[in-house]
Order: sequence, then C-alpha cells, then structure tokens
Amino acid sequence: MIYDFRAARLAAGLSQRALAELLDTDAQAIKRMEKGVGAVPTLIAAMKALNFRLAGVGAGATLPEQLRTRRLRRGMSLDQVATMTGLSRTTIASLERGGGSVASLLRLLEAIAPNARRRSPERSYWGYAGELDRDSRFTPPDFMNAIYSAFGEVDLDPCAHLLSPVVARCRILLSDGGDGLTDDWSGRLAFVNPPFSALLKWLRRAHDQWHAGNVETVVFLAPVRTDSAWFHDTLSTVADIYLLRGRVRFLKADGKGQHTPFSLMVVTLGANADQRRRFAEAVPGFWLARRDAG
Ligand SMILES: C[S@@+](CC[C@H](N)C(=O)[O-])C[C@H]1O[C@@H](n2cnc3c(N)ncnc32)[C@H](O)[C@@H]1O
Repeated sequence: MIYDFRAARLAAGLSQRALAELLDTDAQAIKRMEKGVGAVPTLIAAMKALNFRLAGVGAGATLPEQLRTRRLRRGMSLDQVATMTGLSRTTIASLERGGGSVASLLRLLEAIAPNARRRSPERSYWGYAGELDRDSRFTPPDFMNAIYSAFGEVDLDPCAHLLSPVVARCRILLSDGGDGLTDDWSGRLAFVNPPFSALLKWLRRAHDQWHAGNVETVVFLAPVRTDSAWFHDTLSTVADIYLLRGRVRFLKADGKGQHTPFSLMVVTLGANADQRRRFAEAVPGFWLARRDAG
C-alpha cells in the first residue's frame, strides 16, 4: 500500500499478525491491504489503530469525510469525479461513506488528491504509536502474581483482552461486543488496567461501580496523573494510593516487553489493611496516607 502504511505498522512494533489480532481479522487481510487490495472498512480500522492519517486531502475526522470535503471543495459532482476516475458514481458515494475497495480508494485519491501523504504521527504516552497499540499493553504475569497473592483471585477484568495474561473469572471484551464503561460490573475483586488514553473515564467508572456496591474491591493500575478536580475532591478521599518505585514492564501484543516511560500508581477502593500490607511486601513502593474527606 502506498503512503508508507507498512512503515507505520512496523514503527508501532506490530507484525501483520499482531495488527490482524487487534482488528479481529487475519494476517492475510493485512498483507493484502499493504499491497493495495482489500476492503476500505478494514483499512480505516487499521488506520485508526496505527494513528495513520493522510494530509493533503481535506478536513475531516476520518478518511471518508476527508474525501467528501475534498470533492466538494473542488466543486465537483459525483458524476464529474466518475468521469475523471473511471469509477462509478455509486462506488465514489460508497467510498465517501467508508465502504468500497482499497483499489478504488487509491484510484480516487490519485485523481482528486495527488499530493496526499502520511501526516506525521502524534505523540502518545507510549511514544509514537497508534491509539489501539498504545492502549493494548498487558499487565505482566509477575505483577499479576503480586495482585493475586495480596488481594486474592480476580473476579472481573472489565477491560480485558484475549492476548492478556490477566486471569479473571469474568472478562469484559470489546471483541465480544462488551463494554466495560457501560456493562454492569460484578464480583468481589475487579482488576483494572484500562486504556490509559481514557484514564479519568475509567477511574470514574470504577468508582461508580464500587460506590454502587457492584464490586467489593477495585485494584486499578494507572499512570500517576493527579491533576483533575475529581481526583482531589472525590477519589483521594475514598481510595488508597500506592506509588510504585521503578517501572513496570508491560507486554505488547507481539509478546515483547516494554517499560512504561512514565510513573505508575495502584489505586484501590475497598481494600483492607492486610491486603495492602501484603501488596507492599511484594511490590516496591509505598502507600500514601488517606486524605481526610472533610
Ligand atoms: C491496557 S489494555 C489492558 C488489558 C488487560 N486488562 C491487562 O491488564 O492486561 C486495555 C484494554 O482495554 C480494552 N478496552 C478499551 N475500551 C474498552 C471498553 N470500553 N470496554 C472493554 N474493554 C475495552 C482494549 O481492548 C485494551 O486491550
């Protein structure tokens, strides 16, 4: 595929198979897509995963929107673009809605946006990588062993992944149509290592579910980000917070490890003193004193 799509995948540290697993498709589909063959919806999902955007097309949050903006900006009707590209009117309309084939998409782009090129990737917490990639770092087994031995068996992982080593009685999986931000949580212990790009949303969700009595205890692994008013006004008065010494080596989808380039904390809700003591014996760091609610 043109526009360095393959280079973007490699820069994100993903094999064709790893990207395919993230997108719930097969490695052949990724291989074909990189050669300009396949369906546009898969290409768009892969672009989102790799934070791969095109410059030189037009404004819009997604490529289909950009295509439409580009055509309208140039004051062209579907019929005119059809004559220019040799594609049918229906095909062009379908591409502008996110459908169609990659081959037709490339033909359309060459005709209406010949200067299209890859936009420089944005920085993320994990470095240069797409949203799906940076949010799919799995908790390593040695860290999980400390969690199991201090807090007990995990009943619920509300943001689980098929490739994650976290052992939980119940897992909410996006790939099964689940959504940990809306589905009810239940059980004694929930372990949460959420997508860090939506940290506050997940902390609030954990707090809501614990507050509602749906789970007895929450153990939540998070970057140390304490700037929100909600953290100060609400969470810090009910949560126990453990600041980790050193960095955790998370697992990537391709099985390789990567240390976090930022500091981590463990936030617990409803954990008792024994559990907290056992955790401190197993993992270097310290518990912050609980803040007074008043
Ligand atoms: C940082 S990974 C952690 C996976 C696993 N909990 C672990 O600790 O190894 C976060 C996962 O949350 C999943 N995820 C993102 N949004 C979700 C949602 N709304 N509901 C459930 N899972 C979600 C992603 O697929 C991603 O694999």
